[in-house]
Amino acid sequence: MQFFADTAEIDDIKELAATGLLDGVTTNPSLIAKSGRDFMEVTREIAGLVDGPVSAEVVALDHETMMKEADKLRAIADNVCIKVPLTIDGLKTCKALTGDGTMVNVTLCFSANQALLAAKAGASFISPFVGRHDDNGFDGMALIEDIRLIYDNYNFATEILVASVRHVTHVLEAALIGADVMTAPPKVIKALFNHVLTDKGIEGFLKDWKSTGQSIL
Ligand code: E4P
Repeated sequence: MQFFADTAEIDDIKELAATGLLDGVTTNPSLIAKSGRDFMEVTREIAGLVDGPVSAEVVALDHETMMKEADKLRAIADNVCIKVPLTIDGLKTCKALTGDGTMVNVTLCFSANQALLAAKAGASFISPFVGRHDDNGFDGMALIEDIRLIYDNYNFATEILVASVRHVTHVLEAALIGADVMTAPPKVIKALFNHVLTDKGIEGFLKDWKSTGQSIL
């Protein structure tokens, strides 16, 4: 399973990239606004920090303007993946861009039928928002299960990118279902490393090691 960081904060991306476990980054207009940075500039910086896909989202609602925005964004770096909303114009744009060899992440997916449409449009990634789905009384993980089944039924190459991840259990459930990618805020990715018994174990081993009076170096 690939891990993407859902953030536009450079320090967090650097810290996660240094672990060697970061496969990509996703941003959206809200995350760009939160960073306070210039969109083009911060996207260029992020694309230089990770080898994998860096999603940058168009903000136009019509196909023609989406294509113009995508042209500017994909010129930033080869690993920029254009993010388009799951609308008719978004999927028209997806079809045109992927036909051209550009990576596309179709975002704001809330139903399995929408995911089916995105796969038919040749999307590189489909982003179902599990957290927002849960928040609204739906079952985010049931949506991931349905999409996995449909994509496997037809051998679609579109990768399932589990988005709007809120906690480590979302990551575990997504991995059990066989999602291809998950994108999560840095604090959730960092929380994956933690276990109280790991901390307790280290404490016990170090106490006993100290009693030997030895050193490795
Ligand atoms: C992913 O691409 C989305 O930008 C993101 O996961 C949305 O998460 P949120 O629902 O926490 O805003």
